[in-house]
Amino acid sequence: MALIGMMGSGKSTAGFWLAQSEGLRFVDLDAAIEERQGRSVPEIFEADGEDCFRDMEQSELAACLTSLQPLVVSCGGGAVLRAENRELLRNRAWVCWLRATVETLGQRVRAGENRPLLGENPMVDLEAISAARAGLYAEAANEVVDVDGLEAEQVAEQIKRLWPRAVPVR
Ligand code: S3P
Repeated sequence: MALIGMMGSGKSTAGFWLAQSEGLRFVDLDAAIEERQGRSVPEIFEADGEDCFRDMEQSELAACLTSLQPLVVSCGGGAVLRAENRELLRNRAWVCWLRATVETLGQRVRAGENRPLLGENPMVDLEAISAARAGLYAEAANEVVDVDGLEAEQVAEQIKRLWPRAVPVR
């Protein structure tokens, strides 16, 4: 199972809950990249640029989704940008889009805090990024959960209700 959506939509927290309660392995894609690289996402953006980060993200996602072990993977917000990733997600995972309004996202992310894509006015950036990506999230997702006003545990419960258990490895 893969969770997609904007930064601040709560993918990592809900994914962690979900994996715990289902006894599944949990992978946070950003954390996996950071571990492999031995540096933080902002450091990678700063030193190598976004393209290079996207290459790392693509190979980490492929590694996760080609493993046979059932897992919950929480994808970075931009993982849907590459067509190859969207295709991989569609073919290899059951995908849930955690959709949030820009207001909700703005409350949860603060500029400079591990968010290399946000500048001085995070709301403006979030609005633009969210609008540009909505179609990509929709294209990759099997289901959508609107997370506004929900706690991570409630989001996890909603995902569980939508998740077709008949397809175990996904
Ligand atoms: C990004 C989202 C981040 C991280 C990187 C780029 C994006 O992940 O991968 O800063 O392009 O939206 P989260 O969605 O987990 O914050």
